This record gives sequence, structure tokens and C-alpha cells, in this order.
Amino acid sequence: MEEAVALLRAGKLVAFPTETVYGLGADAGNERAVAEIFRAKGRPRFNPLIVHTLGLDWAARVAEISPLAERLAEAFWPGPFTLVLRRREDAPLALLVSAGLDSVAIRVPAHPVARELLRRSARFVAAPSANPSGGVSPTTAAHVAEGLAGEVELVLDGGACRVGLESTVVDATGERPVLLRPGGVTREMIEQAAGPLAERQEDAAITSPGQLASHYAPALPLRLDARAVSAGEALLAFGPEPLPDSLRGAARTLNLSAAGDLTEAAARLFAMLRALDDPQFKGIAAMPVPEEGLGAAINDRLRRAAAPRPK
Ligand code: TXA
Ligand code: MG
Repeated sequence: MEEAVALLRAGKLVAFPTETVYGLGADAGNERAVAEIFRAKGRPRFNPLIVHTLGLDWAARVAEISPLAERLAEAFWPGPFTLVLRRREDAPLALLVSAGLDSVAIRVPAHPVARELLRRSARFVAAPSANPSGGVSPTTAAHVAEGLAGEVELVLDGGACRVGLESTVVDATGERPVLLRPGGVTREMIEQAAGPLAERQEDAAITSPGQLASHYAPALPLRLDARAVSAGEALLAFGPEPLPDSLRGAARTLNLSAAGDLTEAAARLFAMLRALDDPQFKGIAAMPVPEEGLGAAINDRLRRAAAPRPK
């Protein structure tokens, strides 16, 4: 446990048991550590991750707690239950945790090992299930070690998970709860605690977060695969400096990674997109990013941000 706490605080990945499944954890306040999660899982997209913490008071530091959220939290925390809430502007969380959304998913696990890790590290811990992307969720430490050999610094072994199925996810950002992912806390239990569920809108499916209205897309037009910039454009660069002459005239340049490191680039992507999205520029030009490893997820996000917008 001591080693796990030290690793987590140092920005490394630590797998840990919860009562649902094992999680692949990183310091949720550390953009680079969160990028490592996506790299280790080989996720082709930046899906938003669940942030684990100790209770409602901690949750209130990163999210707005509506009366609906409070009722649900009181009924089901700690436990196999995750609430999607409005993210606070000043939340000390990596932007990558929400994959650019203005909401954040929070879970308060009951498992004593998870709780001890949270308490002793005094960190918010971002954690998806600790399996390679597309694989089956792990319910023992051995599953994690098999699936993510070489990708995770340490696995805390807490035995087999009691529930064995991922947490129920409920969106509580509106007037009524919306069930986003079924789990051990059932529809009936939620309605008992907080009244009737609202139907989930199909087009709001988080499976395509790039299309969500609330998903952050720059207000400025974004141009991909830029080999040159025109006057007044801002440049989202990638790769070694100095940049080629054709790319040097930008009104402002931010480099995702001068070292060409895709994990560093992923960690900076959302903050740099926001910083360049300034009406003083004509548009944003993005240099090509290689379509390998985390580059696939970065390019997916850039393509969505560049896609024609509904008027
Ligand atoms: O039981 C669990 O929930 C496990 C353990 C480790 O806590 N974690 C887990 O995480 O299953 P993951 O990343 O595999 O699933 C996260 C789910 C996804 O369905 C994701 O779309 C949803 O939560 N989610 C996360 N943030 C969201 C947000 N801001 N808005 C909507 N859905 C969100
Ligand atoms: Mg999963």
C-alpha cells in the first residue's frame, strides 16, 4: 500500500480492487498520468473516465452537487454507483478525465483497499476497468496482471471482486436522473431514492462524445494536417523545433510535444485547444500527428473538433 501511494503520487499507474471490478488508477489531477491510462489500455478514443473519491464532501470540490445528486449520493455511496455531475470550473482535475466534457463522473467505492489508497494518497483517482481496451473487465489481481503485463507499475491484490460488474452510471446533471449504464444499483432502486428516471436521449449517447452538444469543440474553425499557416492563424504544432519555415508565421504557436512524445501530446491536447480558441485568431491550424499509439485517439478528437458543426 505504501508503495502504491508513492507511485500514484508520482504520476504512475496503480491497479486496485473495488467491489465492482479492478480499476487502472492514476492521479486524476495529473494530466500526464491520465494520458498514461489511455496509452496503457490502448483506447482508440478519449472516453471520459470515472473519478474515485472518499465521499460527498470530496466530490463537492470538483463538481456541483444538486439536490438530486445529494439524494442519490446519500442512498448509494459508498458503493457500486457513479454519478455524472457538472464539473466545477476550478476543479483540480485533468481536462482529459472528462475528455473535454463539462461534466465529470464520480464514484465513491466501498472496498476497503480502494478507500485506503484514496485516503493515504489524498488524491482523486481516475480509473477505468483495468483491462486492455475491448477486453473483459478484471475481477482478480491475476486478471489485471495477465491483461496489462508491463503496462502497470503495481497491482494491489484485494482478492476477488464482490459485485463483478461495473458500477451503475447515472447522469444527475438535469432535473431527473438518467440511467447511462445499468449495474448492481437497479432502476427500481434509483427511482425509489430519487423519483422517476428520465429517458436517455439517443443522440446524447456518450459512445459518441464528439457529437455531444456539451462536448467542448473550439469556436474557431480547425484545419487539420496543416503544412503551412496563413496570416492570423494560430498553430497547434507537433514535433521538433524549429518548425519548418512554412509554419513559422503563425499568430501564436503551441506545441503539443516538441519531443514528438504522444503521451505528452495527449496530456496537453485539451488545454492547448482551449488556449488557442481565442477570437483574436482567424482559425486554428493543426499539424499532422502520427496515427500510432495514442496518436489515434488524438487524431480522433481533432477530427471531431474539425468536423462541420450543426448550425
Ligand atoms: O465499476 C466501475 O465503474 C469501474 C471501477 C474501476 O470503478 N470503472 C469503470 O470505468 O467501469 P470505465 O472507464 O470503464 O467506464 C466509465 C463509464 C463509461 O460508460 C463512460 O462513458 C461513463 O462512465 N462516463 C464517464 N464520465 C462520463 C461523463 N462525464 N459523462 C457521461 N458518461 C461518463
Ligand atoms: Mg471498461
